Amino acid sequence: MVAIVYASTTGNTEALANAAKEAAGADAYFSTADSADSAEVLKADLIALGSPAMGAEQLEDSMESFYSSIEGSLSGKTVVLFGSYDWGDGAFLEDWKGRVEGAGASVKAVVKAQLTPDDAALSEMKAAIA
Ligand SMILES: Cc1cc2nc3c(=O)[nH]c(=O)nc-3n(C[C@H](O)[C@H](O)[C@H](O)COP(=O)(O)O)c2cc1C
Repeated sequence: MVAIVYASTTGNTEALANAAKEAAGADAYFSTADSADSAEVLKADLIALGSPAMGAEQLEDSMESFYSSIEGSLSGKTVVLFGSYDWGDGAFLEDWKGRVEGAGASVKAVVKAQLTPDDAALSEMKAAIA
């Protein structure tokens, strides 16, 4: 089972999340970060987490809060990270990757989109989940 949890303020990360959902199939767990159930997410074989760059190369607040709640339980898990940014070249996703690896999980893919994801980013997202 795949779990997809995301935050999005203007729909850009949400577009990646929707592509992931399409690839994940009917039994996927799909939620925004502000209402995600960490126990359900931690049952998944593959955990996909998405956030826009906010603050100064930071996760959006609700994702920071959700991610912090599962960070200590990620050892041995496989994670895909995705998100949208504007001027920072997706540096926040590389920082996030470091945190996830530091928590003992393996990062299968990092999918980045500058602002609205183009077709290449949506395909990359689907491939990362399939
Ligand atoms: C308050 C605020 C802070 C932002 N901080 C960054 C940043 O640090 N680096 C960056 O590359 N983009 C930053 N952005 C741009 C967003 O990450 C970008 O617009 C993104 O596409 C939003 O995705 P979403 O629609 O999924 O929320 C910021 C935007 C806002 C409104």
